[in-house]
Amino acid sequence: MVTGTPNRSPATGTANALELRGVSRLFGALAALDDVTITVMPGEKRAVLGSNGAGKTTLFNCITGDFLPTSGTIRLFGEDVTNFPAHERIRRGLRRTYQISLLFNGLSVLDNVYLACRGVSRSRFSLLRPRRSDSLIHSAEELIDAVHLTDLRDNLVAELSHGQQRQLEIALALAGAPRFILFDEPAAGLSPTERSDLIEILTNLPEHMGFIIIEHDMDVALRVAESVTMMHNGRIFKEGRPEEIEEDPEVQELYLGGGHE
Ligand SMILES: Nc1ncnc2c1ncn2[C@@H]1O[C@H](COP(=O)(O)OP(=O)(O)OP(=O)(O)O)[C@@H](O)[C@H]1O
Ligand SMILES: [Mg+2]
Repeated sequence: MVTGTPNRSPATGTANALELRGVSRLFGALAALDDVTITVMPGEKRAVLGSNGAGKTTLFNCITGDFLPTSGTIRLFGEDVTNFPAHERIRRGLRRTYQISLLFNGLSVLDNVYLACRGVSRSRFSLLRPRRSDSLIHSAEELIDAVHLTDLRDNLVAELSHGQQRQLEIALALAGAPRFILFDEPAAGLSPTERSDLIEILTNLPEHMGFIIIEHDMDVALRVAESVTMMHNGRIFKEGRPEEIEEDPEVQELYLGGGHE
């Protein structure tokens, strides 16, 4: 078992960004997550690897509150959020992207990001502010720049390439200055050029902003993450620094031995 942890020591008294203890999630007889314990420090960039059906997306669903775990506890920045609804976790700075796109195809890039910024702003329910807020538009434009879509801000989502749509999803996840983000396979289906663009976007995120990225492509995962958790059949199979994981014979066997796209 590789036990290496990233070379990052949290300041004294600082809570972990994320702490899962003995989390399981059953679907009937199937344990999609089986006694999973994970700790992620503030600002840490973590990759989760694992073959199809390993439980990666279920892990995200339990962290976000899309599903409740069958057992175990989940703490976010020190607070027990195990039974909190998703919106309470969002309020505490948690965001995610989905494996399947949830973009508004008939709206422009700017409109999509503006709506995301508005959705997480305090003024979202105000009936007295029908006009667009300049500060929210400004925030939306900054996010569009951060994901390299500046020249496409007035284009409809439907006109974007697959890779550009994934970049836009990252902008939506960045709305409202999150503290921790879960990216579910953002590199899936990207061309090599789009992949390098994604790597640049992720490596340029602010240092304090931690994330977990689910990634099948070992090269992408190893370039953006400082720690790696490998899952198999709902359980943690290995954890360590990228170079340890890459060189681990059991990981290589699992990766080369099928069940992986
Ligand atoms: N809502 C659900 N109802 C029933 N079974 C589910 C549900 N969600 C996931 N599962 C099952 O749980 C297991 C883990 O699924 P999950 O989607 O977490 O895997 P994954 O690691 O994200 O896989 P992939 O790489 O294909 O996205 C699978 O066997 C899946 O069929
Ligand atoms: Mg998945």
